[in-house]
Amino acid sequence: MVNLAMAVAVPLYIWPTINAWQPLYNAISAAPNTTFNIIINPDSGPSNGASQPDIISAVTTLRSHSNVQLFGYVHIEYAKRSADSVHKDIKTYSTWKKTSKSDIHLDGIFVDEAPWETKYLPYMKDIQTYIHNTMPKSHQKVWTNPGIPIDAKFYDYADYVNAYENSYADWNATGHNKIPECLRQKSTVMIHDFPKNAPGKLNSDTKNIVANGYNATFITTSSGYEDFSAIWSQYVKDVAKLTTTTKVKTLPNCKK
Ligand SMILES: *[C@@H]1O[C@H](CO)[C@@H](O)[C@H](O)[C@H]1NC(C)=O
Ligand SMILES: *[C@@H]1O[C@H](CO)[C@@H](O)[C@H](O)[C@H]1NC(C)=O
Ligand SMILES: *[C@@H]1O[C@H](CO)[C@@H](O)[C@H](O)[C@H]1NC(C)=O
Repeated sequence: MVNLAMAVAVPLYIWPTINAWQPLYNAISAAPNTTFNIIINPDSGPSNGASQPDIISAVTTLRSHSNVQLFGYVHIEYAKRSADSVHKDIKTYSTWKKTSKSDIHLDGIFVDEAPWETKYLPYMKDIQTYIHNTMPKSHQKVWTNPGIPIDAKFYDYADYVNAYENSYADWNATGHNKIPECLRQKSTVMIHDFPKNAPGKLNSDTKNIVANGYNATFITTSSGYEDFSAIWSQYVKDVAKLTTTTKVKTLPNCKK
């Protein structure tokens, strides 16, 4: 079940050795009414993930939960990567399947290193079209990551846009004001380097984020995504609770 409330975004750039994803399984079980939008990334792309026992077993465990959506990671080098190579990665993910023994099918594709200059709109349109033509029906979601606020036209070629990926210091200073309100429903946010010793701060910042109507968010005290940080389980608890208790602002439509 996909809930309409703000989801937890999870850039899961961790290889699933035994127990490595356990904090994620625990969080998903503890927050059954929260949707987790999870990016699966075997090796900066699909590589041969579909034949790796670690991946098959861990992704099948994720798939046993109904409150997850899984996205296969591809990178596009800010529209400099050849369309053929990008297509090939997407095609590979499209073969990730459910069988009698395992289930590693994906719900869509996460397109990292998305460009922000509007001259690249046709490139992004091509990727969306390819995903729609290649991924199995109803598993064709497109989540792009420019990492900064971008022109509204790019939102025509994505279901979700990760419009913010930066440190907490930047978010706290001006970052939270930069994503136009009318784009927030389709905007996701990833904040790293959250202060480690700031009790209460996580809850109040998360409350603000929920109230501002973002689609899905991730907050970590780490500088990257190679671990589950010390605030991970608290963050998920806060999202699960705050999405049921916080009034979300009414967001305007973008002017055409
Ligand atoms: C999930 O939502 C259902 C239906 O609204 C509710 O009964 C249940 O208590 C919720 N579970 C949790 C863990 O919040
Ligand atoms: C966030 O910004 C406020 C000012 O707007 C400042 O007082 C506070 O120290 C900042 N918090 C952190 C953790 O950087
Ligand atoms: C997030 O985006 C999806 C797809 O664009 C949409 O269906 C969903 O309602 C959005 N969620 C929120 C909380 O705005």
